[in-house]
This record gives sequence, C-alpha cells and structure tokens, in this order.
Amino acid sequence: MNIVEWTRDLVSGFDSIDEQHRQFFDLTNALNNAHEQGDKAAVTQIYADLQSLAEAHFTDEEALMELAGYHLLARHRQMHQQFLAKIMAQAKAWQDGEDKVDDSLLFLQSWAFSHLGHADKAYVPVVREAMAAMQE
Ligand SMILES: [Fe+2]
Ligand SMILES: [Fe+2]
Repeated sequence: MNIVEWTRDLVSGFDSIDEQHRQFFDLTNALNNAHEQGDKAAVTQIYADLQSLAEAHFTDEEALMELAGYHLLARHRQMHQQFLAKIMAQAKAWQDGEDKVDDSLLFLQSWAFSHLGHADKAYVPVVREAMAAMQE
C-alpha cells in the first residue's frame, strides 16, 4: 500500500532534484510494504538506501541553494541534518533488533508533506530567479 503519493505540483524543474524527490516517495512506500510483509532484509536495505539518497540529495540541493545565495540555506541545512540524524538513529535501532519502522514511516510521511511540499518548494522560485539572473 502506498502511504505517500508523488504529485505534479512537486516538480521543481531541476531534473536531478525531481528524480531524487521521486525516489524518496518510492523508498517510503517500499519501506511500508517491506515492513508489512515482514521482509527484514528489504527493510535493512531500504534504510541504507534512504540514507545514501538523503546524503546525495541534500548535498546537491544545498549546492544549488548556495550557488543562488538562498537566504534560508542555514535553516534548510539544519532540517536536512535533523532528517539524517533521525533516519540514521532509526536504522541503527533496527540493526540492534528494535523495530521503529512505524515511527520512521510517520516521520517520512510528515517529511514528504512539510519538507518536500513546503520547505523545498519555497526555494525553487528563488533559485530559479538567481540562476536566470546569472545567465543574463
Ligand atoms: Fe530540502
Ligand atoms: Fe529536497
């Protein structure tokens, strides 16, 4: 069952960023399915995938914001760090035999809504404008 649904209004127009955002939705749904099916190896793998996706994505996104001189970069970076810390702690708990997957799923759902749907959407017009100005 899908617990998050990617929608067209999330398109930023930065292709690699959009692709990474879609992967985030896919991994969230995959985590829910693997957990429901009791597929422990898959859960372990998805936690690892989420972590590497997040690391790569945050690096790319922050580089873009830095290039554009985005005024909310510091705050945004903090949110990314909090996300990674949380997911890494929950992945560690899973490795130690503690099942916090339901917490992870709630957290990922709220991240999809509040971060991807709001914080990320907020930088798009600012970065786009800065990029356009640089090309003039
Ligand atoms: Fe972000
Ligand atoms: Fe993002």
